[in-house]
Amino acid sequence: MDRPLLNRRLAGFGTTIFAEMSALAVRTGSINLGQGFPDTDGPEAVREAAVRALREGRGNQYPPGPGVPELRTAVAEHHKRWYGLGVDPDTEVLVTAGATEAIAAALLALVEAGDEVIALEPYYDSYAACIAMAGGTRVPVTLRPDGDVFGLDLDELRAAVTDRTRLILLNTPHNPTGTVLTPAELTAIAELAVERDLLVVTDEVYEHLVFEGGHLPIASLPGMGERTLTIGSAGKTFSFTGWKVGWVTGTPDMVTAVRSAKQFLTYVSSGPFQYAVAEALALPDEYYTSLRDDLRAKRDLLASGLTAAGFEVFRPQGTYFITTDIRPLGHKDGLEFCRSLPERCGVVAVPNVVFYDHAEAGSPFVRFAFCKKTDVLDEAVSRLKRL
Ligand SMILES: Cc1ncc(COP(=O)(O)O)c(C=O)c1O
Repeated sequence: MDRPLLNRRLAGFGTTIFAEMSALAVRTGSINLGQGFPDTDGPEAVREAAVRALREGRGNQYPPGPGVPELRTAVAEHHKRWYGLGVDPDTEVLVTAGATEAIAAALLALVEAGDEVIALEPYYDSYAACIAMAGGTRVPVTLRPDGDVFGLDLDELRAAVTDRTRLILLNTPHNPTGTVLTPAELTAIAELAVERDLLVVTDEVYEHLVFEGGHLPIASLPGMGERTLTIGSAGKTFSFTGWKVGWVTGTPDMVTAVRSAKQFLTYVSSGPFQYAVAEALALPDEYYTSLRDDLRAKRDLLASGLTAAGFEVFRPQGTYFITTDIRPLGHKDGLEFCRSLPERCGVVAVPNVVFYDHAEAGSPFVRFAFCKKTDVLDEAVSRLKRL
């Protein structure tokens, strides 16, 4: 066989960096600030809701294809409560196996061979693989350091649109940079999408982790309701990343298109957890604000620790990640730096370069997650001082 075993569309997408770095964390007994999962489970009441659903036989067999009505209704009520958006739970919500499946199904549904997909670089790693699986071509628009944040150059975005552009894949709050697109930026993107008749798929899994101001869904802007698919997830908001409950919302046509792909991926998933997430979404505002305040304090703790250790820190406005520049420490290759960091000081981080097509633009940046217990972050900060 002279043909490679792996489908050539997936060439270059070997094991993810998270597998390598998490294995390194275990081997060296390091604190793992690489992968973004909380080290504390979400609310006890939500966990109990899942246990109740399991015991009462709700969701133990295949749930309905679009998701259980309780969760679809809860998603619609959530969008109304936080953003004033009207969503029909019967036709405009689809429950997915986490945001990961929502991204895959949306791209498989909407992208054909030859279509271009614009994505903000650095991007969450599944975007590139899913665009490739859909046969599309990714067109990265690079976020660049701008003071103590990463900024989007709107002219660069406009210049990236061609006659072949099918959609813009957005992510705000943005992983790994922590950038939150401003209302002015979102308005400009919306105007561009309307003018060039583009679809927008927007990954808003960190919608409740915005530290200054609030989250603005692009779907709420003029002309966007009819062309936007919004992706959400319970994993980040309720700290149950293993449950894999996500959703997409959009027009009935768009949601039906995504469902056409989704039904042949998992068909359905997470039965009992869907009921529990429905209850979670209805938690009072204080749950959401205390989650955000707690993570804001952790952001500040880790940001000052990293600054004290000599990193240049880009202050995240959202998400639970901090991107740093390692050049002030005398390094420029983030991958090499991350591979040696566990041996040097017992902390694991991930090199942002793996989220870039333009390796040179991402090389000196390294990401740390702060969704960890305060004493774990304290210990990580004291270990990083060894640098
Ligand atoms: C930007 C972004 N989108 C999607 C996901 C995946 O979400 P889920 O666990 O719900 O599949 C993540 C997880 O880290 C993420 O950071």
